[in-house]
Amino acid sequence: MKLNTKRFIISILIASFFIYSVVIYTVGTRVDKGEKWITEQSRQGKLLFQKKNCIACHQIYGLGGFMGPDLTNVISALGKGPDFAKVILSNGTERMPNYHLSENEIDAFIAFFTYTDKTGISPVKDFNINYNGTVNWKDKNEKGN
Ligand code: HEC
Repeated sequence: MKLNTKRFIISILIASFFIYSVVIYTVGTRVDKGEKWITEQSRQGKLLFQKKNCIACHQIYGLGGFMGPDLTNVISALGKGPDFAKVILSNGTERMPNYHLSENEIDAFIAFFTYTDKTGISPVKDFNINYNGTVNWKDKNEKGN
């Protein structure tokens, strides 16, 4: 092989390496971290969730206690939603204590669950693995909580 041909191939390889690196570390790793859903209210909801130790019975993103259901997607789950969550939060149930929460606290919890809903799916039941290794969930409402 001629020296010029070798140089040409090497320069193509080096150029590809740089282009690939730039793409991977900019566009390739860009993910929606849900920043726009982090509001003062959702922060307050997260703090309350920690202070009142709701995690003792509930999971968020699949982690936590197992006495109550996973709350990650309670806002968008079929047959549930914000109004449903508000009723449970205001009254408690036979198995969940009534925390005597104020309107503001309940709204903060709803804002926090809206944030978790936009940033995670749990439990994950059905998904497709794409050719490039990324994952797509099937219809979000079919996950069932
Ligand atoms: C002692 C365990 C326990 C604790 C602590 C607890 N919960 Fe619950 N929670 C439950 C159970 C159990 C249910 C399911 C309703 C039922 O079967 O009575 C539930 C249901 C819910 C639901 C409805 C979810 C759904 O998908 O049906 C929400 C929302 C909720 N809890 C929020 C909270 C929040 C917020 C806190 C903290 C302030 C909390 N829970 C603390 C046990 C608990």
